[in-house]
Amino acid sequence: MNLFKDQVAVVTGSASGIGRGMATAFARAGMKVVLADIEAGALAETEAAFAADGHDVLAVRTDVSDRDSVFELALAAKARYDKVHILCNNAGVGGATGGAPGIWNAPQKSWQWVMGVNFQGVVHGLQAFVPDMIAHGEPGHIVNTSSIVGVWPGDGSIYSVSKHAVTALTEGLARDLQRQQTNIGVSLLLPALTATRINTGARNRPPELAPDDEHPETARFMAQMDARYQRDGMDPLQVGDTVLQAIVDDRFYVFTHPNTQAGIEARMRTMLES
Ligand SMILES: NC(=O)c1ccc[n+]([C@@H]2O[C@H](COP(=O)([O-])OP(=O)(O)OC[C@H]3O[C@@H](n4cnc5c(N)ncnc54)[C@H](O)[C@@H]3O)[C@@H](O)[C@H]2O)c1
Repeated sequence: MNLFKDQVAVVTGSASGIGRGMATAFARAGMKVVLADIEAGALAETEAAFAADGHDVLAVRTDVSDRDSVFELALAAKARYDKVHILCNNAGVGGATGGAPGIWNAPQKSWQWVMGVNFQGVVHGLQAFVPDMIAHGEPGHIVNTSSIVGVWPGDGSIYSVSKHAVTALTEGLARDLQRQQTNIGVSLLLPALTATRINTGARNRPPELAPDDEHPETARFMAQMDARYQRDGMDPLQVGDTVLQAIVDDRFYVFTHPNTQAGIEARMRTMLES
C-alpha cells in the first residue's frame, strides 16, 4: 500500500506499548491517528504527548471487548476524519489468569476476559470498520496483533488459545478480502519479547471478571516477568516502524524477532511427520 500523508489510522490499545509504537510510526509518517484504549489516564497522556509533537490525533476511550463501544469508536472516527485507511486491532491482555495448573482448571472468568479482549476485540474491530473501508474504496490495510505464540505449539494458556484464534481469523480475513477484490491488504503481527506493560495486563481487568482466588506468589512472579520484559524486550517503537514497512510492502506475516521461527518449524515438522 502506498502511504499518503493525511491517511487515517485507528489503533486499539494505543495508550501503551506496541499500539503506541505503531501510532507513533503512523503519526511521524504524517497520518492522522485515532487512539483507542480502555485506560483513561494513559490515553489522555498519550493524546497530550502526540498533540505536543504537532500530530493530528483523536483519543476515544474504548473497551474492545464491548461490541457497542467499538462501534462508537468507528462513529467517532468517521465524524472526525470521514474515512479510515489503516485499522490496527492490537489491544490485548496477558499475565497470570489464575487457577491450578492444567488448562481444564483455568477459571471461566479468565476465559471470558482474555478471549473477550484478545479475540472478540479483533472481531468487533472488523465488524465495525471493514464495511466502511470497503465502501469508500480507497486503499486500506488491516493489521491484527497476534503473537509468536499464535503460531507456536499451544502452551496450555488461554492467551495462546486467543492468539491462535487471531491467527486463523486473520488468515481467513485476508483470503476473503482478496476474493472480494477489495483494495484492502492484511498483516498478521507476530511479536516476541517487547518492552511493554503486557505482564501487568490485570490492571485493566474488570472487577466482575476478577479471579476468585489469586495464588500468593502470582504478584511476585508477574513483577519479575515485567522487569524481564522491560530489561530484555525490543523497543515498541521499533515494532511500530516494522509494521509501517510491512504495510508499505504489503507483507502478511510480520515477525519482530528472527530467532523465533524455530518454534514454527518444530510445530510444522511434528504435524508433517505424524
Ligand atoms: N509485549 C510483548 O512481548 C508481546 C508479544 C506478543 C504479542 N503481544 C501483543 O501485543 C499487543 C499489545 O500489547 P503490549 O505488549 O503493547 O501491552 P501493553 O499492556 O503495553 O498494551 C496493551 C494496551 O491495550 C489496552 N487494553 C487492554 N484491555 C483493553 C480493552 N478491553 N479495550 C481497549 N484497550 C485495552 C491497555 O490499556 C494497553 O494500553 C497485545 O495484543 C499483546 O498480546 C505483545
